[in-house]
Amino acid sequence: MVAFFIQLFLFNSDGKYISPFHDIPMYADEAQNIFHMVVEVPRWTNAKMEIATKDPLNPIKQDVKKGNLRYVANVFPHKGYIWNYGAIPQTWEDPGHKDNDTGCCGDNDPIDVCEIGNKVCCRGDVIKVKVLGVLAMIDEGETDWKVIAINVDDPEAKDLNNISDVKRLKPGYLEATVDWFRRYKVPDGKPENQFAFNGEFKDKDFATETIKATHGFWKALISQQTNAGELNCKNTCVSEGDSPFCCSADEAKAVVDRVRTLFLLSINLFTVLLIVYTDD
Ligand SMILES: *[C@@H]1O[C@H](CO)[C@@H](O)[C@H](O)[C@H]1NC(C)=O
Ligand SMILES: *[C@@H]1O[C@H](CO)[C@@H](O)[C@H](O)[C@H]1NC(C)=O
Repeated sequence: MVAFFIQLFLFNSDGKYISPFHDIPMYADEAQNIFHMVVEVPRWTNAKMEIATKDPLNPIKQDVKKGNLRYVANVFPHKGYIWNYGAIPQTWEDPGHKDNDTGCCGDNDPIDVCEIGNKVCCRGDVIKVKVLGVLAMIDEGETDWKVIAINVDDPEAKDLNNISDVKRLKPGYLEATVDWFRRYKVPDGKPENQFAFNGEFKDKDFATETIKATHGFWKALISQQTNAGELNCKNTCVSEGDSPFCCSADEAKAVVDRVRTLFLLSINLFTVLLIVYTDD
């Protein structure tokens, strides 16, 4: 079997390499409460791709467990992930912060998003989303929020403004979402996941406040007020005054060139390096 090992670096309209974790602004439109979302997993696919938070410039790459590339199982009757799945940039679920509602600490990742629009997005897309609600998943004792959102370009976006609209206009989708998150690790021998609030989704306002709190944790992280641990905070767009981790465009290019060279030298894997353009 040939293993395709994909690493996806992002660059912006200035031709500068960027970190999808740190360099893309959280808000697309703050006044309208529209957020950016980085798509890690297109709907109906199985590869567990994610922002590599510990690598320089945080490319999107496939999670590896015990030397094997990770795929999620198809949990009957679902196929792969049942939404476009990704993260909101410039957010961080602080493992040192215990949430009042869930009683658990953060999972050390940017906050996750399930985008419920009709279009199947591409890995590495940066889209604008309207937030509708949030589910508080507890994964092995850590808080792992799942924001429910819709692409602002979706034809139905104007009719969806809160979690109650999802229940009304997309019947069954939220129930399927809880079912999916409860059971998706069971085929890998893990227990079912648990949820705070009895598995009920919280509304738009609660979700927005939750995202803002994770943005505050990220700000402390990027300005080195919180210890980053193993996380890599190298960035090119956060102003130098705000982040000691800010580096030059040349230094960022050197990071990607180094990875490219390692890929060209590697002989035991068939490797693919993708470099993806984003205009954000
Ligand atoms: C969390 O709970 C504590 C104790 O109940 C309270 O003092 C504090 O204000 C709460 N924090 C938030 C953010 O709600
Ligand atoms: C969302 O719906 C809840 C009830 O489900 C309501 O209390 C809240 O005000 C709504 N928020 C917005 C922004 O419409």
